[in-house]
Amino acid sequence: MTRLLGIIGKPVKHSISPVFQQAALDYYGLDVCYEAWETAPDELIEVVNTLRWPTKLGANITIPYKEAVLPCLDEVDETALRIGAVNTVVNSQGQLNGYNTDVVGFYRSLREAARFDAGGKDVVVLGAGGAARAVTLALIWSKAAHITVCNRTYERALKLVEDFRTPDIASKLTAVPMTKEALGQVLHRCHLLVNCTSVGMRHGDEEQSAPIPGHLIPSDILVYDIVANPLETPLMEIARGQGAKTMGGLSMLVYQGAASFELWTGLAAPLEVMQRAARQAMGLAAEEG
Ligand code: ATR
Repeated sequence: MTRLLGIIGKPVKHSISPVFQQAALDYYGLDVCYEAWETAPDELIEVVNTLRWPTKLGANITIPYKEAVLPCLDEVDETALRIGAVNTVVNSQGQLNGYNTDVVGFYRSLREAARFDAGGKDVVVLGAGGAARAVTLALIWSKAAHITVCNRTYERALKLVEDFRTPDIASKLTAVPMTKEALGQVLHRCHLLVNCTSVGMRHGDEEQSAPIPGHLIPSDILVYDIVANPLETPLMEIARGQGAKTMGGLSMLVYQGAASFELWTGLAAPLEVMQRAARQAMGLAAEEG
């Protein structure tokens, strides 16, 4: 019996998860098919409930349902609860368990792909949605010295900082509004800037824009844009123009997918196979030689 996995979201037709997850499943010769399940808001509960069927191993959850899916699940792990968003559902004999693998995805990608140790560093996070919450938690795990969260809606940045500021963490957390003055001050002394806003995302309303002006970006920092598509975002382009190092979101996407694969199958994710498939799906086949 062929078993199924899939990605639930809207839209999901541009998602490359089916390509690199299928490559990993095929690597192990598993009789499992990973599909794209485009889901309308009024279908979400019904579609998630089908994950209880014995034929289904689980699913990835993406925009715009990472928060909305929580009440449909039987159990949600501590990390996902802290973030308030689930991107992976596992069918455990009819019970649905929720996880968030974006945190470990960013944590590993920063260390292993960008080769950046955030320990003791000053970091600025742009955005305060689910992605920013996952990135902030990963930076806390990395023991960043100071994390400044900057968001267009200042109240949301304040809420994020309040939620994560617990006595057990080594990192200092601050919220600032997204003004040129505030940004200028915090960027001046930071080592890493992470874009967790949707600005610059392909097929989005602001795909040609960068979330901040280039002249505010210091030349000696790493600018990490977690937007995976396009590979080179407008922010990365202007940051490179300022002399800064840049990192795109594709490796985080693959690392979060690798962690999801391990939850569904119990097998070690074939990371290189997944990375190669993801790069090929993004049109980098020629580079792979
Ligand atoms: P996700 O869960 O993927 O993080 P989200 O919750 O919709 O998605 O968050 C999107 C983020 O991008 C938010 O921080 C949003 O800012 P607001 O909280 O003010 O809405 C940010 N964002 C979207 N468009 C933006 C823009 N034009 N300029 C600055 N920030 C923007």
